[in-house]
Amino acid sequence: MQATQADATEATPVDTIDLRREFEDVDIASVLAQLDRELVGLAPVKTRIREIASLLMMERIRRKMGLATTFPTLHMSFTGNPGTGKTTVALRMAGILHRLGFVRRGHVISVTRDDLVGQYIGHTAPKTKEVLKKAMGGVLFIDEAYYLYRPENERDYGQESIEILLQIMESQREDLVVILAGYADRMEKFFQSNPGFRSRIAHHIDFPDYSEGELLTIADLMLDGQNYRFTPDARAAFEKYIAVRRTQPLFSNARSIRNALDRIRLRQANRLVSRLDRVLTSEDVMSIEASDVLASRVFAKGEVRAEVKAGEAQP
Ligand SMILES: Nc1ncnc2c1ncn2[C@@H]1O[C@H](COP(=O)(O)OP(=O)(O)OP(=O)(O)O)[C@@H](O)[C@H]1O
Ligand SMILES: [Mg+2]
Repeated sequence: MQATQADATEATPVDTIDLRREFEDVDIASVLAQLDRELVGLAPVKTRIREIASLLMMERIRRKMGLATTFPTLHMSFTGNPGTGKTTVALRMAGILHRLGFVRRGHVISVTRDDLVGQYIGHTAPKTKEVLKKAMGGVLFIDEAYYLYRPENERDYGQESIEILLQIMESQREDLVVILAGYADRMEKFFQSNPGFRSRIAHHIDFPDYSEGELLTIADLMLDGQNYRFTPDARAAFEKYIAVRRTQPLFSNARSIRNALDRIRLRQANRLVSRLDRVLTSEDVMSIEASDVLASRVFAKGEVRAEVKAGEAQP
C-alpha cells in the first residue's frame, strides 16, 4: 500500500541529504523571491523570514536523518504600527510553513477579541474553541492581541480565552501556529502581564514604519497591479501628498496609501466622465493626473478631520 511505503521511508533515517535537491523540492526560494518582489521595504522582516525558513529547512532535514528531538515552537509575535504589512506577511508565513510541512493546510484564520471572547458567562470557551478548531492545521492570527487582557475588569471573560489559548499553544503546537499582532508598546505590556504567552513565542518580528520613498514605491506597485499609472506630475504631487499625510492623525502606512489611491481613482473616473465629447485612449484610462491627486482634502488646511472620517482606518 502507498501509505505504508511512505511511512517506511519516513521511519528509516537517512545518512546524507542532497541540500540543493531538498531546497528545490520544497521550492522555498520562489516563495522568498515573491516576497522580495511583491513587498516593498521591510528588510529586517524579510531577513527574519529567511532565517526562520532556513531553520525550518534544517529541522526538516534533521527529521529525515532521525536527529530531530522535539517539535520546534513556531508561535510568533508581529509588532508594528497599522498598515505596516503584518497581516500580509502572516499570510506569506502560512504559505512557507505549509511548504516546509510544518502545517497541514496553510490557511490563516484572522481574529480579534470579539471572535474569541463572549459577552455572557459560558460563552467564551465555546467561542474560543470554535475558532481554534477552524484554525487547526494552519495559522491563527490574533490582531491586537492585548485586548484579550483587560485587567481593569474584575471578571473579564478574556482571561478564560487566554487560558484556553495558552493550553492549546502548548499541546497542539504540531498542528497550529499562533501569531499575535499589535502595537509594540501595548504588546510589551501584554507580555509582561501574561508571561505564559511570551514563553510560548519563538519569534518576535518588528515591522518598521515605511519611509516616504517606500510609500511612493508601494503606490506605484499598487497602481501597476490595477493597470493605472501616475503621470510624472501626478507622481510628484503624490510625493507631496505622502509627506503631508504622514504627519496627520490616523496615518496608517501602506493602508493609507491604498485608501488614498482608491479616492484618487474615484476622482480620475469623475474627471473622465465629466467630458463625454471625446474618444478615450487606453492611455487616458490608465493615467492618473496631478489634478486627481491635488484635489485631496489633505492639501486643504483644516479639513484633515473630514478626510479622516471619509475613509481612513481607525486609530
Ligand atoms: N511592504 C508592502 N509592499 C506593498 N504593499 C504593502 C506592503 N505592506 C503593506 N502593504 C499593503 O498595505 C495594506 C495594509 O497591509 P496589512 O493589512 O498587511 O497591514 P497590517 O500591518 O496588518 O495593518 P493593521 O495593523 O492595521 O491590521 C495591504 O493592502 C497590503 O497589501
Ligand atoms: Mg492587519
